[in-house]
Amino acid sequence: MNDPKLIPFNRPAITGAEEDYLAAVMKRGKFAAGGPFSTRCNAWLKEEFGTPDALTTTSCTHALEMAALLCDLEFGDEVILPSFAFSSTATAFARCGARLVFVDVEPATMNIDPEAVAAALTPKTRVIVALHYGGVACDMDALLALARQHGLLIVEDAAQAIFAEYRGAPCGTLGTFGCFSFHETKNLQCGEGGALLINEPQYVQRAEIIWEKGTDRTRFYRGEVDKYTWQDIGSSFVLGELNSAFLLAQLERGQEITADRLRSWRQYLKYLRPLAEQGCIEIPRVPEACRHNGHIFWIKVRDASEQADLIRYLKKRSIQSVFHYVPLHSAPAGRRLGRFVGQDRITTRDSSRLLRLPLYYGFSEAARVAEAVRAFYGVT
Ligand SMILES: Cc1ncc(COP(=O)(O)O)c(C=O)c1O
Repeated sequence: MNDPKLIPFNRPAITGAEEDYLAAVMKRGKFAAGGPFSTRCNAWLKEEFGTPDALTTTSCTHALEMAALLCDLEFGDEVILPSFAFSSTATAFARCGARLVFVDVEPATMNIDPEAVAAALTPKTRVIVALHYGGVACDMDALLALARQHGLLIVEDAAQAIFAEYRGAPCGTLGTFGCFSFHETKNLQCGEGGALLINEPQYVQRAEIIWEKGTDRTRFYRGEVDKYTWQDIGSSFVLGELNSAFLLAQLERGQEITADRLRSWRQYLKYLRPLAEQGCIEIPRVPEACRHNGHIFWIKVRDASEQADLIRYLKKRSIQSVFHYVPLHSAPAGRRLGRFVGQDRITTRDSSRLLRLPLYYGFSEAARVAEAVRAFYGVT
């Protein structure tokens, strides 16, 4: 049933330029990757983020899988990641034979806790995954120091973090590899899509080969070889021309989309801070080093039962709110493929009491949503 008053949790961003770009692809009549729009997206990302290379992919899941392949893991190598994460964050490494080491998160950001990482290191540790939850950067100073000290790679799961920054540097450019998502639930979208930033030049050539089904087809397109041949393992990670055309329209307006989301995020903060000060809810605390991108406005309520009650209460008022990750270490695959190391002080408790409020490009209902939350607590 259509509810005209419904405030959905998400509306995929549309800038208005997508149709023209899609029409240009139709007119040209060529749809595979390697055309002008996929080339322009890669070039745009490379230039915007100032990285040695940037490759668009069919999803962030695939960008993470490319990053995991580039880490060249051996069976039994260990990868440390937050348990409060998406399945793809873990699967990418499990597919390469790595053991997953899940650790706790920090309550203010729900990002991986560097002290928990330090305590979980073993001689088999090879990679730390920095997932920037809600577009708020992890404590990268601490994670990079650990990586340097122990010779580890950092893969940034920046699925939610395009245009977010840490000490003025863009998320996605801080680790060895950075992975973005352009799924329709993300700030910038093309339905399904992603990108891998390669931040160290020695990985560029192999990344291009893995990206193109294990061949040197990218070099062939550039006229550097006469024929392309099978060079290495790889898969079909490339993004086709229609999705690339759609994506370019979003990239070009990315700053405007981000600014609009940040406006709504700040409104939530203004309207809900009094409720937090009264102790009814908790709200995000963005560390000083971080400039976030307004991807998620979350609140934490007392416990799981209050979370369910509030979701139901908001639903009755035509407002969609949603919980987020179920901890990976307690999921069936997580129990099989990894283990939680250290104390689970925050992950299980806070994942069951966190909920996300509606927020999207063009959103204008923060006041109405906040008023409903306040009414739930009897505060008007
Ligand atoms: C942190 C994180 N990583 C990876 C993904 C996977 O992204 P995609 O749907 O583009 O594969 C998601 C999806 O929501 C995510 O939240």
